[in-house]
Amino acid sequence: MKIKVRRYHPHFAPPTIEMEYDIPQDVTLLQALSHIKRHIDRTLTFSFMCRSGVCGSCAMRVNGKEVLACEYKVQENDIIEPLQFTPTLRDLVSDKKSALETLERSKAYPLNMEEVELEQADIAFLQRQSDCILCSSCYSSCPVYEVNEAFLGPFALTRVYRYVCDKREQKKKEHIDAIVENGIWDCTLCGNCTEVCPQGIDPKNDILMLQSWAAKFGYTNPHMGSFGSFGLEF
Ligand code: SF4
Ligand code: SF4
Ligand code: FES
Repeated sequence: MKIKVRRYHPHFAPPTIEMEYDIPQDVTLLQALSHIKRHIDRTLTFSFMCRSGVCGSCAMRVNGKEVLACEYKVQENDIIEPLQFTPTLRDLVSDKKSALETLERSKAYPLNMEEVELEQADIAFLQRQSDCILCSSCYSSCPVYEVNEAFLGPFALTRVYRYVCDKREQKKKEHIDAIVENGIWDCTLCGNCTEVCPQGIDPKNDILMLQSWAAKFGYTNPHMGSFGSFGLEF
């Protein structure tokens, strides 16, 4: 079975080339890449750790869609490439620094938590966003980055939603204040992020809900003039 890998080396000319490799049948993409490295080309570079969909380090694109290499079963003629909108360091290894910086810029962390007793349902609700493995798949799938590299993006915004919904957080407005510029109103609600998330997180819906929270605090969608509250009562 053959697959193609888009390879990148900053000091080669041209820096990007596409190479075709023969790999065994019925293997995951991570197993295929390991086979190439062990038996065909030792210079092929990719990252992984857990091999079981937990660490998020093996995210890459197959035929234009983000996958975890350790979970994806390779198909004939697949084209493998690194994540987009983050700099590629070598071959399939991306520098996720810019993606991770969105967490800080959007204040996706607790600001002022008070002691409030949580019920089991509250804990289950908050767990969903906390399951994010920071794989950056949603970041890579987001079309907004083609036109606005300052966009806060899906995984930062979905984590902000987690804190805005946390009964213990006392500074909900401060969270919202941090995500109105290059944030919730810039999302096109295309749903790519939700589709590619290996953890079943739904950033698109969370952003929609954050728009309602922003309306509660007096913000309006600058692209629409006014915005409804999606039936939420505040
Ligand atoms: S729904 Fe919004 S955040 Fe998610 S990929 Fe589309 S534009 Fe980006
Ligand atoms: S929200 Fe999902 S796709 Fe995005 S970084 Fe977290 S686990 Fe990956
Ligand atoms: S190696 Fe950890 S998620 Fe794939």
